[in-house]
Amino acid sequence: MTWRTKTCVIIATLAATAAVAHNGVKDADVMARMNAMSAIGKATKTLGDMARGKTPLHQAKARMARDTISLNAAKIPDLFESQATDPKSEALPAIWDNWGDFTGRADTMKDAALSLDFTDKAALATTIRDLGATCGGCHKRYRVEK
Ligand code: HEC
Repeated sequence: MTWRTKTCVIIATLAATAAVAHNGVKDADVMARMNAMSAIGKATKTLGDMARGKTPLHQAKARMARDTISLNAAKIPDLFESQATDPKSEALPAIWDNWGDFTGRADTMKDAALSLDFTDKAALATTIRDLGATCGGCHKRYRVEK
């Protein structure tokens, strides 16, 4: 690939997804599941900032973040179904050897998101811990350690 084409690809990727971390991902299925995970990551950060008091607890924004997590969690079985790979992917082959466990964990994440309590900062801080545990539990088994 020439420099010029490469630059165009990078700019197109940036414009389409604003996801700098995904530069160079060529496989569309891998890109889709990374985008879903990124959205989950951003929404979790939004909620984490509210739980810690870094930003005010804003009910509508909190609910939107929760919905982003639960809706993307529900898509995980479809998004990971094809055993797509890409040099940039961090997904481990163990996903497809343990499909039931993997999709079960996506389900647990969805339930944890739906159980978030936005009554006040303290309630959010308590319930977001359960959500956070679902991220770490799945990444530990199915995502390349960085
Ligand atoms: C069902 C398993 C599972 C759960 C639950 C899960 N993840 Fe992931 N996550 C993955 C896998 C697998 C990847 C790597 C995907 C790839 O690179 O192809 C990943 C990648 C990511 C990435 C990197 C995306 C990128 O830009 O490449 C972020 C951010 C992320 N997860 C955040 C979260 C957060 C936050 C939670 C919890 C709220 C969470 N994940 C829950 C399996 C999971």
